Amino acid sequence: MLSLLKLLEDGQFHSGETLGKQLGVSRSAVWKQLQHIEEQLGISFHKVRGKGYRLAQPLSLLDEQTIRNAVPDWDVHVLTEVDSTNAEAIRRMAGSRSHPILVLAERQTAGRGRRGRKWVSPFGENLYYSVALPVTEGARQLEGLSLVVGLAVLEALDATGIQAGLKWPNDLLVNGKKVAGILLELVGDPADVCNVIIGIGVNVNMTVPPEQIDQPWTSLRDIQGKSVERNALAIRLSQSLQRFLVRLRQEGFSGLRALWEHHHAWQGRAVSLTSGAQQIDGVVLGIDEQGALRLKTEQGTIHYSSGELSLRLRDDS
Ligand code: ATP
Ligand code: BTN
Repeated sequence: MLSLLKLLEDGQFHSGETLGKQLGVSRSAVWKQLQHIEEQLGISFHKVRGKGYRLAQPLSLLDEQTIRNAVPDWDVHVLTEVDSTNAEAIRRMAGSRSHPILVLAERQTAGRGRRGRKWVSPFGENLYYSVALPVTEGARQLEGLSLVVGLAVLEALDATGIQAGLKWPNDLLVNGKKVAGILLELVGDPADVCNVIIGIGVNVNMTVPPEQIDQPWTSLRDIQGKSVERNALAIRLSQSLQRFLVRLRQEGFSGLRALWEHHHAWQGRAVSLTSGAQQIDGVVLGIDEQGALRLKTEQGTIHYSSGELSLRLRDDS
């Protein structure tokens, strides 16, 4: 499927016969594949007698080799479709524990958000990005990690000309709408041998109907008014992530705390924090040296670590 899409990626007409020759299959096999692509991936084609097939909308696919060349230290895999890139990174990590593995996919059939939520993952429009890293320095290495990943995403978006803000613990917002989310998963024993999977979803060129997602969201394309090239973004993101991981190892989270607060979208805002059935109202003071949220409440300043916590702006803020 991907080989056929790659041949059509240029947006020009291609005859069924030429496509068949290039792929070593019959014209009718090409036709069947195109029908399959339309049904399964929601991609439409124009068919014109005497000319052949052309994509109805421009498509720019991820290119494994381009990303590999730019990120030589990581083992890079680009998939057409997967349940979840986080799940795939976990599966691949099981076979090789020492080397970072980067998994990207054009589409996720079971993309996951925090607390078992679904991450909407249409084909060819967004970044579904997971990197699995061995944790060699125990729990210390994980302190503040999810917040630092937010800084790396922020830097990659900034290089694309987009200024986003951070929402604790690790969402990225533009104009109060979510543009990217981060899901960290740990596999193994943090006190012994373990791996961390850093999962990042960026809404790049997403065109799904707004009501398909139950919260205000936006995409880089909506913000910039033009499509954003996903290979370049994936490369920038990997390079930013590599730099921030080095800084975290060298400086610890305390060295990055001020930078995080500088980009914190809800600094000083009145919020409600929900933890299970409990709701706490307060004003966001910032974060502490470990990355916990500092909230000024009626009971004084309380520090909250991430986990099952959900933060919302209060109407009066
Ligand atoms: P909190 O944990 O504070 O409740 P949150 O509401 O952003 O944060 P998450 O589980 O972190 O919840 O993220 C999932 C939410 O992100 C979804 O419920 C949806 O509202 C929003 N969202 C934005 N873009 C997407 C996307 N592409 N797919 C799915 N959800 C998205
Ligand atoms: C959130 O805000 O709830 C986190 C969303 C994380 C989504 C990304 S997409 C790539 C990776 N694979 C997944 O299944 N989830 C993360």
